[in-house]
Amino acid sequence: MAEYDTNKLVEAAKNARKFSKAHYSNFRVGAALVTKNGEIITGANVESSSYSLTICAERVALTKALTEGKESFSAIAISANDGDFCPPCGACRQLLFDYAPNIDVILTNGQENKTYKLKDLLPVAFEESKLSKR
Ligand code: THU
Repeated sequence: MAEYDTNKLVEAAKNARKFSKAHYSNFRVGAALVTKNGEIITGANVESSSYSLTICAERVALTKALTEGKESFSAIAISANDGDFCPPCGACRQLLFDYAPNIDVILTNGQENKTYKLKDLLPVAFEESKLSKR
């Protein structure tokens, strides 16, 4: 039994797209992260004229949440404007894994959802425990 409301989270991810700054790709992505207390923090992709500085919606949501003092998360929903499922990129998988390794990742195409465990999306992950061995 999920400890969050999937429909509400998916809707929040979809709504978050309206603040996307996707001037270059026109690929607008929204993400909504939910804490274990049910609080939802949203993000959208922010593109730069120096393309490589672009930040994905998932990392915007996560960094917003962390810097607002939120620590414990249950799930993230991701919605893009192309009507298809938008799996998180490798960089986002890593950063999410660093701070929320046990979350569910919910992809929506606007009609249907697909839910994964982040751990299944980033097998054999590099993790914090490697660093304490130095
Ligand atoms: N993007 C995201 O925001 N999240 C993803 O999961 C994949 C890609 C953004 C980055 C860039 O602004 C645009 O989508 C095209 O790559």
